[in-house]
Amino acid sequence: MTKPLLVAFDGPAASGKGTLASVIAADYGLPFLDTGLLYRAAGHLAHVRDIDPAVAATLIDAETLADEALRGREAGERASRVAAIPEVRAALFKYQQDFANQPSGAVLDGRDIGTVIAPHAPVKLFVTARPEIRAHRRWLQLVKLNPALTEAEVLDDIRIRDERDSSRSSAPLEKAADALLLDTSDLGIDAAIATARSLVKSRL
Ligand code: DC
Repeated sequence: MTKPLLVAFDGPAASGKGTLASVIAADYGLPFLDTGLLYRAAGHLAHVRDIDPAVAATLIDAETLADEALRGREAGERASRVAAIPEVRAALFKYQQDFANQPSGAVLDGRDIGTVIAPHAPVKLFVTARPEIRAHRRWLQLVKLNPALTEAEVLDDIRIRDERDSSRSSAPLEKAADALLLDTSDLGIDAAIATARSLVKSRL
């Protein structure tokens, strides 16, 4: 059996943190939680059912999380809006903290994992990249769903989202003081994975 290990990944949209977090989770045989999906689900449910986002956050189930609509551009935008509401964050807090504290250990990715959800995590990575690079990556994903979407529109979205996620008063996006910084701007996927692996090892 592998030793329990808690790894926190944070960073802005399309920095590559989700890909890197899932590789590290597979390496160490740890359960993985993409916490952005919870905020996407809360925003999406609030919209389709026309209910309070904080109530929607208490109604998320496996079926909601499997909805393809959560991967789209609108869901990301709605997630960022509802994520600024303290009651929404409070409603999602326990689930995330319980996931982080399970005996097997875990890998979580989000915006406030190293600062709020799991400040005690022994391994924290803050993954970032220049906005233009992140917009290009996100556009490559989204254009498959929406062929009319331009890269400039995605860059606008990314800048608005960065600003909203970083400036909100409740658990803003910020690097924990003890997090290791990984800038993936000039790294291909293989190099980014290799760097993430060696940063994680350096903290074990
Ligand atoms: O990682 P993502 O793009 O799926 O996240 C969508 C939005 O959810 C993001 O703009 C901010 C919010 N979020 C958050 O506030 N805290 C988290 N731990 C994860 C996501």
